[in-house]
Amino acid sequence: MSKASPARLVVLISGRGSNLEAIHTGISDQIIPSAVLAGVISDQPRAPGLEKARAWNIPTRVIERQQMDSKQAFESALLHAVEEFSADWIILAGFMRVLSPAFLSGLSSHTLNIHPSLLPKYRGLDTHQRALDAEDTLHGASIHFVTPELDGGPVLSQVQVSVRAEDTAESLARRLLPYEHKLMIATMALLMRHAVQCVDESIYIDGNLLEKPLTLGVDLSHHGECSLGG
Ligand code: GRF
Repeated sequence: MSKASPARLVVLISGRGSNLEAIHTGISDQIIPSAVLAGVISDQPRAPGLEKARAWNIPTRVIERQQMDSKQAFESALLHAVEEFSADWIILAGFMRVLSPAFLSGLSSHTLNIHPSLLPKYRGLDTHQRALDAEDTLHGASIHFVTPELDGGPVLSQVQVSVRAEDTAESLARRLLPYEHKLMIATMALLMRHAVQCVDESIYIDGNLLEKPLTLGVDLSHHGECSLGG
C-alpha cells in the first residue's frame, strides 16, 4: 500500500518569518508529521523570512502590490502562486495585507491566520498596546480560519500569557512570541493528525463540533494531541 503524500503547506509572510521558522523546525523535528513546506510567498521582496526559506531550499515567490496595476491583479497573482504550489493548507503568518472577500472566496477553506490577541478581542493592529490599555491580565495569540471578515473567522486554537504590571507593548510582544511559535507547531501537528474542517463558520475536528478554541497546554499539547473533553 502506498503512503499518503505529505500535506503541502504554503506560508504567506511580509516580514521576519519567525512563525514560518517554527513551522520549518516543527517539520524537521518531526513534531508536525506528514507535512512539507511547499512554498513561501511574500509581498515584500526584502522580508527576512524569504532569506530563511531560500536557505532551507524552499521555493519562494515575491508578489508586490506596487508592481501591480490594481489590488485585483495583485490578488490574482497571489492566487496563481498558491495554486502553483498545490497548497493543501495556506498559513498567513505575519502577512500584512487585507485580502478581499472575492480573493478569499477563490481560496479553499483551508486558510489559517495567526493573530497576536485572544480573539475576538483586538482584531487588527496594535493588539499588545490595546490589551495594556484595557488593563487585561491575560493576553495571547489565536490561530483562526480566514474569512472575509478581518481577523473574524472561527478560532481553532489559542495560547495565553499573563500580563505583568511592568509590561510595555514591546515586552509583551517579546514574551508572547515564543508561545506563538509553540501554538503554531502544535496547531499544525493537530491538522496533520486529525481531520479539521471549517464549514459555515463552524470548526469540526474528526467530525465533532469544536465548541470553543483549543488552548495550548490545556486541551492541546505541544505535540498536537488534543483532548476535546466531554
Ligand atoms: C506575529 O506576531 C503574528 O502573530 C502576527 O505577525 C507577527 C509575525 O511575526 N500576525 P513573524 O513574521 O512570524 O516573526
